[in-house]
Amino acid sequence: MDVFASTDGPESDGHEQVVFCQDKQTGLRAIIAIYSTALGPALGGTRCYPYDSEAEALHDVLDLSRGMAYKNALAGLDLGGGKAVIWGDPERIKTEPLLRAYGRFVESLNGRYYTACDVGTYVADMDVIARESRFVTGRSVEHGGAGDSSVLTAWGVFQGMRAAAEHAWGSPTLAGRRVGVAGLGKVGKQLTGHLIDDGAAVVATDVNERAIAWVRQAYPQVDVVADTEALITSDIDVYAPCALGGALDDATVPALRASVVVGAANNQLAHPGIEKLLADRGVLYAPDYVVNAGGVIQVADEIEGFNFDRAKLRATGIYDTTREILRLADAEGVPPAVAADRLAERRMAEVGRLRTIHLR
Ligand SMILES: NC(=O)c1ccc[n+]([C@@H]2O[C@H](COP(=O)([O-])OP(=O)(O)OC[C@H]3O[C@@H](n4cnc5c(N)ncnc54)[C@H](O)[C@@H]3O)[C@@H](O)[C@H]2O)c1
Repeated sequence: MDVFASTDGPESDGHEQVVFCQDKQTGLRAIIAIYSTALGPALGGTRCYPYDSEAEALHDVLDLSRGMAYKNALAGLDLGGGKAVIWGDPERIKTEPLLRAYGRFVESLNGRYYTACDVGTYVADMDVIARESRFVTGRSVEHGGAGDSSVLTAWGVFQGMRAAAEHAWGSPTLAGRRVGVAGLGKVGKQLTGHLIDDGAAVVATDVNERAIAWVRQAYPQVDVVADTEALITSDIDVYAPCALGGALDDATVPALRASVVVGAANNQLAHPGIEKLLADRGVLYAPDYVVNAGGVIQVADEIEGFNFDRAKLRATGIYDTTREILRLADAEGVPPAVAADRLAERRMAEVGRLRTIHLR
């Protein structure tokens, strides 16, 4: 096995540690990036993806680990931000020896990095990795884990939406509003349930026929539209992107009928500057990484021994955090995405600094 750790490479961009992991026998090639441990051990999932090159994998893991530091900081967790990528096709490479070899690299960091599921890795994979490492979350319920993190992700997005509704219309409810849900996957389905329970009308779309069949059966009152374009140009008050990243781009934002955007998808802003375009058009955007933190709150709870009620209570706090960010954005005259980054940076700096007060 080879381990190479670096903090000062040209790409590292403020990261504390970047570890290249290789095990020729199993074919493992992975990179673990720790952006910050200012608030505690770095937590972030392991993505398994067939990148075109190592440079592309490195770029992704550096970006993702920075994002996790901000997400965990605003989720109120005593955890820093990290992420890992395993380079390869998840359908082909994920053998028991490869995952266990990866687990030994996670273990070798001695708790500076906790892993979890991400694109291409699942609860069952975490159970295998956990046979070699104590620093694994997102495990199955049978193994003491939190199971599927979409439960509290959807709950948290709903809380963020309540805060945005209050900011926009004076009352923390979606009752009487029309909400467009793009993507009826694990999160979108559960979000739809919360919205219906709250008295909202839901318009939805998905590219998957099974998802559409599900919604027609579970919630016949939901209006199904052909695609995202039809959704965003329909008469909706709130747009909830719950499919892929990049949902808000130069074409989408001018076409939006909704005056509020709150959804589960990661990296909704297609490029820097979109947050300003939204603000200029009077669209209230609750930052994705703030409102979709319920999943990381859920898996982080495993570190203390998973307790669903405690985790749900913490995810409910996304309502207060979103309110605070929207208030700060108004007070400082900046888009909410900028206010969120500032608040996260402030918490990392101010709380992280306390470690210089030595206890012994
Ligand atoms: N699951 C979690 O705990 C969690 C946590 C944080 C963020 N997120 C993010 O939330 C989003 C949804 O996550 P999920 O777990 O529900 O994923 P999922 O894969 O279960 O669901 C995604 C759904 O979007 C649909 N979709 C894909 N392209 C589409 C398109 N162009 N138009 C309409 N629908 C489309 C898919 O068919 C699928 O039903 C993702 O961006 C994910 O990264 C999820």
